[in-house]
Amino acid sequence: MLSNVILVTGGAGFIGSNFVLDWVQGGFGKVINLDALTYAGNLENLAAIENDANHVFVKGDIGDRALVAKLLMEYQPDAILNFAAESHVDRSIHSPGDFIQTNVVGTFHLLEEVRSYWSNLADEEKLKFRFLHVSTDEVYGTLSLTDPAFTENNPYAPNSPYSASKAASDHLVRAYRHTYGLPVLTTNCSNNYGPYHFPEKLIPLCLLNAIAAKPLPIYGDGQQIRDWLYVKDHCSAIRRVLEAGQLGETYNVGGWNEKSNLDVVNILCEILDELKPRTDSASYKTQITFVKDRPGHDRRYAIDATKLGRELGWKPKETFETGIRKTVQWYLENQVWVKNVTSGEYRNWVTKQYT
Ligand code: NAD
Ligand code: DAU
Repeated sequence: MLSNVILVTGGAGFIGSNFVLDWVQGGFGKVINLDALTYAGNLENLAAIENDANHVFVKGDIGDRALVAKLLMEYQPDAILNFAAESHVDRSIHSPGDFIQTNVVGTFHLLEEVRSYWSNLADEEKLKFRFLHVSTDEVYGTLSLTDPAFTENNPYAPNSPYSASKAASDHLVRAYRHTYGLPVLTTNCSNNYGPYHFPEKLIPLCLLNAIAAKPLPIYGDGQQIRDWLYVKDHCSAIRRVLEAGQLGETYNVGGWNEKSNLDVVNILCEILDELKPRTDSASYKTQITFVKDRPGHDRRYAIDATKLGRELGWKPKETFETGIRKTVQWYLENQVWVKNVTSGEYRNWVTKQYT
């Protein structure tokens, strides 16, 4: 049984907003959405459910214990889903402190308040309650071309301040299960793409740069490999783990779609060449520009999602080819969202990163 009232943190970000939209529009129940609205949080992502009684948005920090305690008492959620995080690896290289604050300290404060709330629940509610922590494949470190994909048993070896902060939060979640018995679940997912993706990450950045006649920046040799999953498939995996996951277990989530960054950008350009050809008929590929590599850049990620398929029967609906086409179409059809998201803060970041 899926929970009826859930508290989602970070539900105005890329994955969180897709999850909240699916939950509310799919009739799964009510969402209390706690989001600090950093540069990455965007209420326009949630415009479709702005006036829906099953969506309550609260602007606030997961580290604000008084606020979290108040929300838990007021709404009595059956589950907490923790999406809130600083999520951009490049930003973590420039400003690691923000990542420690939200991803580690924030998660700790959230866990403390949830523990206190959960321990006071009646036995029946206690049994039903879940804390689901949304994490990343980056905690496992990097792979060579011939290594097998990451399973849940891979040792943690995070290489960036971002992945180290996510690894620390995963460990805290695990410890709260082991020490206090908190009913936790953790998902470790590969790279997502799809609607509402903030245009500082590879796919939306290159998509929007292409149609704006700007360079498409590829770090280093472009041969780094990521394993891509359409965001709606990530959301369905989280729902399935929430519904049927074994307490204390971790589940890898991935789409079996390993691609080099250069291949991803080439595919993107080919779809754009077809759907929105350049006025001079040249391919968008001519805009590809190799730039300085990311420090400590992980070479390859690959997720083995066998456990999630075998134990919970989940599988992704989209292949990379179908998902990327939908994504390009979404960006082309949602130019108002695109225009509004390319705000002052975003432009400042681009200047800092690429000049
Ligand atoms: P995002 O950066 O788009 O969104 C993060 C959201 O969290 C934003 O709305 C932001 O305002 C909010 N937030 C940040 N700090 C907060 C705080 N202290 N309190 C409350 N809200 C805060 O991130 P995303 O790509 O949607 O990622 C969501 C989660 O999924 C993260 O935990 C991330 O580590 C994980 N993840 C992301 C990917 C991916 O490819 N994007 C893959 C695997 C896992
Ligand atoms: O693997 C899951 C992770 O995927 C999540 O945990 C992170 O939150 C999410 O941001 C994403 O991290 P990446 O670093 O893989 O995503 P990003 O889009 O920043 O980069 C994807 C790849 O593309 C990576 O190898 C770096 C490269 N890249 C990125 C940018 C922004 C470029 O070559 N050029 C660029 O301009």
